[in-house]
Amino acid sequence: MPKIVTVIGLGYLGATHAVAMAEFGHTVIGIEPDESKLRAFREKKLPFYEPGLELALSKAVDSGKLTFQSAHSETSRNAHAHFICVGTPQSESSYAANTTYIYASGSELAKWMSPESIVVGKSTVPVGTALRLKTEMSESAGFDVDLIWNPEFLREGNALEDSLRPDRVVLGGGTAKGIATLKEIYAPIVKAGTPFVEMDLQTAELVKTAANSFLATKISFINAMAEIAEVSGADTVKLAEAIGLDERIGKHFLKTGIGFGGGCFPKDIRAFISRAEELGVGDALDFLRAVDAVNLRRRQRVVDLLNKEFGTIAEKKIFVLGASFKPNSDDLRDSPAIAVATKLRELGANVFIHDPKAGEQVSILFPELTVVDNLAEGFSMANAVVLATEWDEYKQIDPEVSGTLMAQKVVVDGRNVLDVERWRNAGWKIYALGRSVANEVGGL
Ligand SMILES: NC(=O)c1ccc[n+]([C@@H]2O[C@H](COP(=O)([O-])OP(=O)(O)OC[C@H]3O[C@@H](n4cnc5c(N)ncnc54)[C@H](O)[C@@H]3O)[C@@H](O)[C@H]2O)c1
Repeated sequence: MPKIVTVIGLGYLGATHAVAMAEFGHTVIGIEPDESKLRAFREKKLPFYEPGLELALSKAVDSGKLTFQSAHSETSRNAHAHFICVGTPQSESSYAANTTYIYASGSELAKWMSPESIVVGKSTVPVGTALRLKTEMSESAGFDVDLIWNPEFLREGNALEDSLRPDRVVLGGGTAKGIATLKEIYAPIVKAGTPFVEMDLQTAELVKTAANSFLATKISFINAMAEIAEVSGADTVKLAEAIGLDERIGKHFLKTGIGFGGGCFPKDIRAFISRAEELGVGDALDFLRAVDAVNLRRRQRVVDLLNKEFGTIAEKKIFVLGASFKPNSDDLRDSPAIAVATKLRELGANVFIHDPKAGEQVSILFPELTVVDNLAEGFSMANAVVLATEWDEYKQIDPEVSGTLMAQKVVVDGRNVLDVERWRNAGWKIYALGRSVANEVGGL
């Protein structure tokens, strides 16, 4: 049976969830206070890039199933479920997550929800947040709010598919009636035989932070191996292949490079460290400080390599390929590519940057970086190239052709996606992070 739902906060998570719920046949009211985002949604445009989502958004709006409001109204009283999808960014002054948007959205919702409806938290929050939210909302609403924590595991670049067909669904807390309502809303996911794992609120909150911490740790583990490989002549790409064949280890998230970024991993591990300290068990997550530190050192490594190559990078022209934190996304939040470009710029280099989708945003948010729309133009100006985001089009660059555009042919492959032999045979000096090739070309 189709339901009426509100989706509160239409960022990467909420916009995707709203579209997915409309695809499941529900009537969806998206609530988003940011007027410019609202305008875009009403014109059936996504305010960010996510493959396939704009088309699905357009279909959902045309079908009348998805509408938008800047705040709750009487229509929210008819909703069966309210999904909280607001942001939980890192606080400006500490590692802690800023949970003010969570509590603010809860207190607004408490004025408009009916006692029969359920509240479903999807944002990533520090353990303990959901219980406090439930208490505050119940006091304010005057009835016991049925809150379920249902953390989201979507990956940007594959967001809609991950929302429509997740590999598991975690449900924390909630009454039996509330859980039954949510399962009705998620009927196509239930029908697909997807595992639903039910638990308490705190465990559901922890599942998400634990999962992200584990994945971040895997990336930093292989990047720590890269630090060893770069001084011992080993090759971390081969090492990852070999250890990844052990099924207890697995091959995923073992890619050497300039590390992780985005709106989730960095702030989630820091928020976890901060929360563990508040709870008096900071020692338990000491290793996550090392995970963060290894990750940040990889960005600096690119700068150090180029400094060594040129003596100094001041006045050098560096062409950075990629700005977003990962391919198939235009998300610049804590992007390693932007971090490297900014560091190079601070040291006096002239930095040109290209990105298939995020160029316009880079010009607005980082005006000190010169955005180049055309790859050939970038190559022809550069003293060195840094591949910072592994967009497909960069993997296909012909080193022979691009090499003819440059006087000095120096490339740092920050994602280990270029064919080292091919680039070297075309006359390039190639620094591929974590591989012995960097030693062989005498740059380490
Ligand atoms: N981006 C991802 O890939 C992803 C994946 C899984 C989980 N998450 C988690 O989901 C949450 C949201 O992440 P995001 O990337 O979508 O963030 P985002 O910053 O892109 O979006 C948050 C949205 O919430 C809106 N908002 C803030 N206060 C509001 C309020 N009171 N009422 C209604 N809307 C409000 C903001 O205007 C913004 O549009 C975070 O906790 C994040 O960790 C994100």
